[in-house]
Amino acid sequence: MTVESVRPVTHGTEEPREAPLAGGAVPVLGHGLKLVRDPLAFMSGLRAHGDVVRLRLGPKTVYAVTTPELTGALALSPGYRIDGPLWESLEGLLGKEGVATANGPRHRRQRRTIQPAFRLDAIPAYGPVMEEEAHALTGRWRPGETVDCTSESFRVAVRIAARCLLRGDYMDERAERLSVDLATVFRGMYRRMVVPLGPLYRLPFPANREFNRALADLHLLVDEIVAERRTSGQKPDDLLTALLEATDDNGEPIGEQEIHDQVVAILTPGSETVASTIMWLLQVLAEHPEHAEKVRAEVESVTGGRPVGFADVRALRHTNNVVVEAMRLRPAVWILTRRAVNETVLGGYRIPAGADIVYSPYAVQRDALSYDRHLDFDPDRWLPERAKEVPKHAMSPFSVGNRKCPSDHFSMAQLTLITAAVSAKYRFEQADGSDDTTRVGITLRPQRLLLKPVPW
Ligand code: HEM
Repeated sequence: MTVESVRPVTHGTEEPREAPLAGGAVPVLGHGLKLVRDPLAFMSGLRAHGDVVRLRLGPKTVYAVTTPELTGALALSPGYRIDGPLWESLEGLLGKEGVATANGPRHRRQRRTIQPAFRLDAIPAYGPVMEEEAHALTGRWRPGETVDCTSESFRVAVRIAARCLLRGDYMDERAERLSVDLATVFRGMYRRMVVPLGPLYRLPFPANREFNRALADLHLLVDEIVAERRTSGQKPDDLLTALLEATDDNGEPIGEQEIHDQVVAILTPGSETVASTIMWLLQVLAEHPEHAEKVRAEVESVTGGRPVGFADVRALRHTNNVVVEAMRLRPAVWILTRRAVNETVLGGYRIPAGADIVYSPYAVQRDALSYDRHLDFDPDRWLPERAKEVPKHAMSPFSVGNRKCPSDHFSMAQLTLITAAVSAKYRFEQADGSDDTTRVGITLRPQRLLLKPVPW
């Protein structure tokens, strides 16, 4: 994936129009029920109603943007910021001062601090950890024995993020705790976001207790990691050092709370997204043995049979295309929101000041108007000559603009390496009790993927 950049859509002198109301609204709840019942189908159906459409969610009007061109314009425009119910509930749980929820000058300063750790030329330094973790993953599996892909995917994603970005020997035991905590926190967070029944979540039910314990442990872990690095007196060249040494616009060290929230804001989006994508990759390898075989053959032709390494990633073109195609059909981040700073115009439609806007990378990346045989899993559509046909912004799983995921190179490298490492050793079959239907949460992932690794 490369960083795209386009100029925001410009508008003529015509009077801006009122966006049409999407069909199917019912009294009182509007489109809310449909959105809750089947959010993916609902979001995917909206383009038929217009490029920008109004949704009624109870008493509230929300604008949905449906075309690749306008989602790109939205993401690239400074006229929209991160704000609204989704972000407020995230802030309440994870902290208010991290990069993922900040806006304006603080956000720009924070991006400058974290960016060097994710630059393309910084990634090779993470190669040995990525390699070790990818092989440790397959090393834990036994042929024919059921693998719980949810916990395994979480574990490898968290371990890679924690070991690469917050380096340290102490990280082994902590990475395990982190992966268990984050899996629990994400499960509970989505529930709290879509069904915001505040007081109910304070009752001492087992699920609430488990959520609160995991969230508290996550914050405690981050404090421990920061404190330990400080007392060690060491300053390895990593993201944690960059955060500890960061200064604000007046040259003053940033506060403790901001350091804490920054670590949380990097670990949380970095684990669930990668873990969900790994689950889908394993699901794809099980569902399409012909693609699993093609990946295996590519890995063998590149490595000649030795264990695949980070240095091979660039040569693994087909494997990379398998990763991209899996992300097209099952983007971890399936819904994004923004809030209009002032009254503005998007695609000729008036967007009032303060309006919440929503769009779905899932819907955009599966749109029949952008892709031939749009629901087919076809990694070869990313061969250079065919990829040219894909409309701009029709494939942006990492988004674009000032909120673009800083970790696109980091993520693509580990996902390609992991796919290659598991495919070199095994093909996969569904195990008893496996359910690979889509579970909609903060990210998309299979409900409960249980696979049996079978040696080639
Ligand atoms: C932001 C996707 C992995 C850290 C984002 C956004 C997307 C995204 C779409 C933009 C959100 C928006 O526009 O509102 C993904 C996907 C991943 C992935 C699909 C893997 C498959 C990671 C990893 C890390 C990370 C591994 C860190 C270790 C972040 C951060 C932001 C972000 C800090 C907030 C950036 C900002 O607001 O300036 N990610 N991400 N992501 N991602 Fe990722």
